[in-house]
Amino acid sequence: MSIGIKTPEEITEMRLACRLAAEVLDYVTPFVKAGVTTGKLDQLCSDYMTQVQHTTSATLNYQPPGYSPYPASICTSLNHQVCHGIPGGKALKKGDILNIDVTVVTPNGFFGDTSRMFIVGEGSIFARRLCQVTFECMWLGIAAVRGGAHLGDIGHVIQRHAEGNGFSVVREFCGHGIGRRFHEEPQVLHYGTRGSGPELKPGMIFTIEPMINAGKAAISELPDGWTIVTKDRSLSAQFEHTILVTETGAEVLSLSAGCEPPPKLITGALAENTARAIAALPSAPQP
Ligand code: MF3
Ligand code: CO
Ligand code: CO
Repeated sequence: MSIGIKTPEEITEMRLACRLAAEVLDYVTPFVKAGVTTGKLDQLCSDYMTQVQHTTSATLNYQPPGYSPYPASICTSLNHQVCHGIPGGKALKKGDILNIDVTVVTPNGFFGDTSRMFIVGEGSIFARRLCQVTFECMWLGIAAVRGGAHLGDIGHVIQRHAEGNGFSVVREFCGHGIGRRFHEEPQVLHYGTRGSGPELKPGMIFTIEPMINAGKAAISELPDGWTIVTKDRSLSAQFEHTILVTETGAEVLSLSAGCEPPPKLITGALAENTARAIAALPSAPQP
């Protein structure tokens, strides 16, 4: 087991890659409304990446062993879809909840990975609570990060918050190291035991991306070979940030001007530094 420690030069490259991924989400946000198809959102993001940012999508034609090539530039996971939903011709309608997951590759070959939930129209109180608790789960995981902490500390706080709110944590997919490759060591589980797993060291970079189900944790895969859904067809939500481990905490790399600041239950230096960093960023360039 070896988890890479990024050099200062690599960290600079990763700040750029992750901000660009977040800016794709900022760009597409105003288009996410009733009537638009997820295929249209994919086309908008693809054009933005290639023509405005001069990045490429890490997901387009991505083919891990045993999979068919992933056919789109973003993942769009709707309602009971957990992750890896394939954009298509279906139009969004009021009350839908949608995760959009963006991974870009910069011209220098660095990967930035982030995802957010979107609620179409007002959404039900229940759907909004699932999204809020999932957002809090991600941020509690981020707040558990610092040099000297353990990987299991992250999963522990996420699981406690999700299950404490009556929801469940998807087990089969996890966060991951990231850098010059899409998926590196370590695997960042979103459940587990405090103090378990490898010790975190400054310079490690990985994602935290909890998938939280309103019902049971079990999942199934659709015949398209990619889309993961809840087995009980209950709603599922996910947020994802890419994180740098520092001596005293975490630096969130996938920030952009349109990024939501940490929730109220996050306090102290992490909350203050993150809110300040978001406020200092210029808006994403428009085409
Ligand atoms: N972006 C996803 C992650 O967070 C991976 C998507 S792989 C795809 O790890 F092929 F489904 F796009
Ligand atoms: Co990821
Ligand atoms: Co992702």
